[in-house]
Amino acid sequence: MCKNKKVRVTIDSRDFDFPVIEGSEKEKGIDISSLRSETGYVTLDVGYANTGSTQSSITFLDGEKGVLRYRGYPIEQLAEKATFLEVAWLLFYGEMPTDSEIESFSQKVALGGDLHKDISNLFGGFAQDSHPMAIFSAGTMALSGYHPDFLKNGLSKEDKDRLFVCVMGQMATLAANIFRFKYGKAPINPDKSKSYEQNFLHMMFSEDDKEYRSSKSVLEALRVLLILHADHEQNCSTSAVRLIGSSLSNCFASLSGGIAALWGVLHGGANQKMIEMLEMIQNDGCGYKKYIEKAKDKKDPFRLMGFGHRVYRKLDPRANVIRAKCDALLEQLGKKDPLLDIAKELERTALEDEYFIERKLYPNVDFYSGIMYRAMGIPVEMFTVLFSLGRIPGWLAHWKEMVESSSFRISRPRQIYTGHTERNLF
Ligand code: CMC
Repeated sequence: MCKNKKVRVTIDSRDFDFPVIEGSEKEKGIDISSLRSETGYVTLDVGYANTGSTQSSITFLDGEKGVLRYRGYPIEQLAEKATFLEVAWLLFYGEMPTDSEIESFSQKVALGGDLHKDISNLFGGFAQDSHPMAIFSAGTMALSGYHPDFLKNGLSKEDKDRLFVCVMGQMATLAANIFRFKYGKAPINPDKSKSYEQNFLHMMFSEDDKEYRSSKSVLEALRVLLILHADHEQNCSTSAVRLIGSSLSNCFASLSGGIAALWGVLHGGANQKMIEMLEMIQNDGCGYKKYIEKAKDKKDPFRLMGFGHRVYRKLDPRANVIRAKCDALLEQLGKKDPLLDIAKELERTALEDEYFIERKLYPNVDFYSGIMYRAMGIPVEMFTVLFSLGRIPGWLAHWKEMVESSSFRISRPRQIYTGHTERNLF
């Protein structure tokens, strides 16, 4: 709280003072927790663009300056030096792990990766054409049945430590098995001798008679993408995780809801839509400029995928890292992707166009990530599953922060009712 600082609001000729809350990075908010009880009014903020739903010490984001930090560490430094499991630990516990902590954690995650054999029966109930995100969300919910220890309320610290390990291990295997189901391949068990990234690629791509050998550049690309996706403060899916968890439903239910929210094309699903848009431009043969015009046309629902963001008014710092990594990956693999050329032309033209300049629309994390996933041999329908896999530690950290908070209460927004006033049926 900002000592003694208050904001005075006059409502119906009466003055009310509300305390000002100041965060560690000096951003300020007005604490209106007593607004309704004192004044009888509620706020209306469609899309929550001006609403702080919580205080949080996990991730700091400054959209005006293009800054993103996990627990104080700049995203660029983490993407340069850390492993994904180190970042997961950092998000969950608040500090970077020591050598012995990360060694023990990595081993436990690897050991926790075996799925119950019955989980794959669930896949058979899905139509073959089902989107992998549907199966991932349902599969995560199904995991609750195999881990009853974690369903009770008031988990101890030790329970939460075990839950963290369990979810990190199980979800990687689940994601890889969904890919194998979709492409008619039998599931492969995790290889406990491999790193998290190596093991994930092994479970995706190894065959019974041929073990997948991941190149250094593909491993590096996966590491960076997972880290860049690991958290993004109170975005749509994280807010869904918190909202669901706030009713004291269990962590698996919260994560399953987070995956469902991330699936949408305005959120994580944009990585798939971005590639589909580039393919459409390529196949159309009329050139990308037509699509810039379509994106600007208010009568046309078309939007430039991978562009724009609710909070960034500058280049998304994750897009900055990804763009450089994308070029490096294609060069190291000796691949040329014509979709990358289209993406670069789109970006260059949009950034010089008054429409995008005026609205401060820049490429976001999804603009180049799909081109990297494609180069790594990951099919387009799996892109958002990969985004979800990266986001799991962030969701878990937010869920933990929420259930441990002294101000914890069920999330329950108000509304301004606009329907019929009372009327009689007879
Ligand atoms: N193409 C064309 N116009 C756009 C775009 C776009 N991609 N994004 C925003 N605008 C326009 C929008 O029409 C509005 O114009 P006007 O002021 O004339 O009405 C203005 O820019 C402000 O946009 P907004 O709709 O208020 O922005 P929002 O905060 O509600 O939506 C967004 C943010 C990300 C949903 C939106 O920018 C969008 O639809 N982008 C494309 C989808 C996408 O790439 N999503 C991934 C987001 S990053 C991954 C993640 O973390 O979710």
